[in-house]
Amino acid sequence: MLARFRPYYHYLRPVRVRFIAGICLGVLAGGASSAGISWMIKQVFQPFFEAAGGTRLETYDLLARLALVPLVFGVRCIAQFLNSYLVAYCGTVVLEGLRKDLFGKFQRLPLGYFQKSKSGELLARAVSDAQQAQLTLTSSASDIVVLPATFLGGIGYIVYIAIKEPGAGMFLLGLTSIPLAVLPIKIIGKNLYRRAKQAFEANGEISEILRENLSAAREVRAFALEQREQARFAASVRRFFAQQMKVNKYAFSLSPLIEFLTGIGIAIALFMAYRAGSPWSSVISMLPALYFCADAMRRMGKMQTELTRGTAALDRLEQVLHEPEPIADPAEPKTLGHARGAIEFRNVSFAYGGTATDEIVLQNLSVDIPAGSIVALVGKSGMGKSTFANLVPRFYDVTSGAVFVDGIDIRELRQADLRANVAIVSQDSFLFNDTIYNNLLLGRPGATRADVEQAARDAYAHDFIAGLPQGYDTIVGERGASVSGGQRQRIALARAFLRNAPILILDEATSALDSDSEAAIQKALQKLVVGRTVLMIAHRFSTLRDANLVLVFDRGQIVARGPHAEVYRSSPLYRGLYDQQQIA
Ligand SMILES: Nc1ncnc2c1ncn2[C@@H]1O[C@H](COP(=O)(O)OP(=O)(O)O)[C@@H](O)[C@H]1O
Ligand SMILES: [Mg+2]
Repeated sequence: MLARFRPYYHYLRPVRVRFIAGICLGVLAGGASSAGISWMIKQVFQPFFEAAGGTRLETYDLLARLALVPLVFGVRCIAQFLNSYLVAYCGTVVLEGLRKDLFGKFQRLPLGYFQKSKSGELLARAVSDAQQAQLTLTSSASDIVVLPATFLGGIGYIVYIAIKEPGAGMFLLGLTSIPLAVLPIKIIGKNLYRRAKQAFEANGEISEILRENLSAAREVRAFALEQREQARFAASVRRFFAQQMKVNKYAFSLSPLIEFLTGIGIAIALFMAYRAGSPWSSVISMLPALYFCADAMRRMGKMQTELTRGTAALDRLEQVLHEPEPIADPAEPKTLGHARGAIEFRNVSFAYGGTATDEIVLQNLSVDIPAGSIVALVGKSGMGKSTFANLVPRFYDVTSGAVFVDGIDIRELRQADLRANVAIVSQDSFLFNDTIYNNLLLGRPGATRADVEQAARDAYAHDFIAGLPQGYDTIVGERGASVSGGQRQRIALARAFLRNAPILILDEATSALDSDSEAAIQKALQKLVVGRTVLMIAHRFSTLRDANLVLVFDRGQIVARGPHAEVYRSSPLYRGLYDQQQIA
């Protein structure tokens, strides 16, 4: 069972001294509990209450024996405290490492992963599964030494007495019933594992529904979905309840069962001692030893529960941690530096799943885009325009064919190098929960204050930012001031100005705007596109005439290409789309 956790021991490396110290102290605490206390009782009780003829002890002897009582308890308490503290310390270090690795994994996973899996489940993994794994490690790492030490200490003491005192040996016979308690641990443990896993999944489902509901608060009201959502949530919560209670049933029945069986064992042992006429102080001192043995057994049962929970959590964590990362940097990347910005698609086909059965989204496209050209991608929605653009920063890998930037296959570049050459403004830009200034700075970390403000001016964002209560230091996003869609787009454009990348992707950057913002943004865009290779997916067609090249997308293929005037003449599809826009 412990082998299951072996791949995670490396998290303990930086704290191994503390960990080993904690474990050793655990052995001490365990021994001091069972063997220590029993021995102490014998040392005190025998001369105190069994001395022949009622002889009194010397004062010195009396005090020394009395001092044993706090001494044994003191050692036990201190060892126990240090053991718990040190092991908990190490456990928290493990949690930290696990969380960092998981978060790092999230950063590297292909984008497709986040659309495919439910983000509520990912959240559950990042939070509760990591915590469960830590809990298991902390409690089990301590228990796994303390409990056997306690148990062995107790048994050791009993054997010692049994050998030393004739008659007490019978006592041992009665103890043979205790190992029976191991049986229920095995049976219940197996069931528990399965149930714990199901309960985790039910829990992930709850988070998912909650997340979805919260992010769609507006739609829920608009479509009057409150009842439906409540029913959905209630059903999910109920499923969790059922699963959780099954876990509880198994988890909570284990300890009482073991305790009960141990009770029977003790009764039999006492009977044997009575038959053998053992001395009173021996029997009485064996009782704590027995109690501690039984308690250790009971808690080993609990530990089994804990290990099972931990294993279920790890299984789920590993689903993420072991997810392949298909987009990796090459071993010997080529260097790109500041690219000129020529883009070539050569026989590119693409399907989101990457397998033959998945729907082909782009079909054998070849396009040559000279550096500095403005390319308009046109077509009805769902025809593959965004997909085409997303292949340039290598958000996805082509299924076949290749994409080149400045003549280099982008798979031969470091992703960071490639992406430093691409700026993207999409329909709804994300602002982090931070100051406007820091949000702008994302465009080019290391830019000066003057650069940032200049970029904001270029994007017609400076005036509204300066008008905010704290100016550039205003917090935006969830906790801060809300900005309108148009203002947000202008912040995104300012970022693109700062980034100063040779390749610019505008994916319906202006489609969600009021006309005031749009006018400002169009002006900003005209400045921004100068000297760059631009892939422009325009919702409105007012900028089309500026394009050097229009690519008309239809069902994953480019059905017409050329300058606006030429395509307008040759492609009925384009003419239809264009004319429709002009009237609207
Ligand atoms: N992340 C994704 N996973 C799976 N399919 C997707 C994904 N994004 C888009 N698609 C599908 O790919 C096709 C092209 O989409 P897209 O490139 O977004 O079209 P456009 O930008 O022209 O509207 C559509 O059928 C769409 O459903
Ligand atoms: Mg799109």
